[in-house]
Amino acid sequence: MKQLQETVNYLKNEGVNDPAIGIVLGTGLGGLVSEIEIIKSIDYDKIPNFPVSTVESHHGKLIYGTIRGKKVLVMQGRFHYYEGYNMKEITFPIRVMKLLGVQNLLISNAAGAINLAYKKSSLMMLTDHINLYPDNPLIGKNWDDFGPRFPDMSEPYSLKLNNLLRDISVKQNIQLHEGVYVPVMGPNLETKAEYKMIRLLGGDAVGMSTVPEVIVARHMNLPCCAISVLTDECDPEHLEPVAIEDILAAAAIAEPQLTTLYTELIARL
Ligand code: HPA
Repeated sequence: MKQLQETVNYLKNEGVNDPAIGIVLGTGLGGLVSEIEIIKSIDYDKIPNFPVSTVESHHGKLIYGTIRGKKVLVMQGRFHYYEGYNMKEITFPIRVMKLLGVQNLLISNAAGAINLAYKKSSLMMLTDHINLYPDNPLIGKNWDDFGPRFPDMSEPYSLKLNNLLRDISVKQNIQLHEGVYVPVMGPNLETKAEYKMIRLLGGDAVGMSTVPEVIVARHMNLPCCAISVLTDECDPEHLEPVAIEDILAAAAIAEPQLTTLYTELIARL
């Protein structure tokens, strides 16, 4: 808590003032940044107590500014379990966002399509998840000031935000699938047998992020939504090798649509 206060004070001193909307941008999904009227951009390594992102495809900047007149605080690049961070480090920025006054959290990620009706470079809005991480950010003594010991998970993704996204997708003529996201530890991609298992479990997409942030957001009763950019088709019967370059290229194709959905959503919040 002392570290959190130190970080919050630092950011306030840097001019981060009452952001209303927090945004987490995933792998290859930095395009929303061009929509921001930037007031302040701070490298993660300048921010006290912030972990430093080590993945090359992530920039690692906290950007404060406005989109459509709304104050936003954007994480350009996130922290992953496979990088060696623990769950508390991964979710530290989400706690910071809440303490700074953020009222809605918009998340994005790159994920593999388990539901084979969902094609590469399309978008999927998360309606639920199945947490396959071997760890949880809420383990340990509960922070009663933030939320309860046993947070409810009946609505991990805000129905209100998801209804808005659905409406925007129709108006903007953007195909927006819906489904269950399954996070795994990574960093390797999955075997054919693992893809089969994830499908059997009820997953529509598989990735390596997002759920720690969502769990911590729900702990603090912070409404959130998340969209996956589907970067590869996880068809166990016809599995082809996937390289990170392929994933980034597929993300780049879908990214403008993600940017439109979130920009319009922000305008309506
Ligand atoms: N598996 C896990 N994470 C991913 C994948 C995948 O197939 N594609 C993009 N992120």
